[in-house]
Amino acid sequence: MKPYVICHMCTTVDGKILGDRWGKLPGHKHHSDLFETTAASFGIGAWLVGTTTMDEFDGPKTRLPRAPKNFVRRDYIANKEAKRLAIGADAKGVLRFQTNEVDGDHVVLLVTERVGNDYLAHLQSAGVSYLFCGKKEIDLPTALQKLGAAFKLRKLMLQGGGKFNGAMLGAGLIDEISHVTVPVADGGVGISSFFDIPGDPPPKAAATLRLLSLKQLAGGVIWTRYKVIARHTR
Ligand SMILES: NC(=O)c1ccc[n+]([C@@H]2O[C@H](COP(=O)([O-])OP(=O)(O)OC[C@H]3O[C@@H](n4cnc5c(N)ncnc54)[C@H](OP(=O)(O)O)[C@@H]3O)[C@@H](O)[C@H]2O)c1
Repeated sequence: MKPYVICHMCTTVDGKILGDRWGKLPGHKHHSDLFETTAASFGIGAWLVGTTTMDEFDGPKTRLPRAPKNFVRRDYIANKEAKRLAIGADAKGVLRFQTNEVDGDHVVLLVTERVGNDYLAHLQSAGVSYLFCGKKEIDLPTALQKLGAAFKLRKLMLQGGGKFNGAMLGAGLIDEISHVTVPVADGGVGISSFFDIPGDPPPKAAATLRLLSLKQLAGGVIWTRYKVIARHTR
């Protein structure tokens, strides 16, 4: 069964997501603390991000050693008991994890048939789990299905960036949205936003939401939660 997906993000009032442009937020140590504390309050152990966001957590881009000749290409679960998961999309095999944890969360990568055996062997030696989720692109429903089955996942937090969120929204796979709005107006055209779906925009917005809760946090930050009640998939 597909896990229930909550998309959690911190954005400016115009929906931009690049926190390094925000300066100091009064009442908060750093924008990442605001993001992490609000996310942690859900008590959900698994988070999922796109390749660019996951690239902020991996190691240097080293050359890979050769895989053994008889290497078998299939899903690899290094730790099926893991309760806390750091899940990243990696369709082309560009990430370079040298260890299998991000702050204690077990790293799981969603890969495609495009990735080479050297890469997969490297992941195995680093103790990183991986799931094949498509030929060239990550098939998102397959990815969720496999994650649910492999790790008995019932819920997960989708945590950016804009392109990956956009793909998940466009595919109709987001159940709930958790939106932390900081008192900043960005205004930059082309700055990554909450949901970035490429191509010409279709006539209808991607989803209709129902407000679940609204809270004011320190420093004029607003935290809203919404249920997705209608999806306009493309
Ligand atoms: N403010 C916040 O709350 C927050 C939260 C998270 C991230 N961020 C920020 O967001 C920025 C990154 O956002 P981003 O939109 O540029 O990147 P992203 O969504 O993190 O990653 C996008 C990349 O993921 C890969 N990908 C693999 N499968 C995909 C699929 N099925 N659909 C779409 N993409 C797929 C694509 O790379 P390939 O085509 O190369 O495979 C794509 O370019 C970072 O600066 C990060 O710090 C902010």
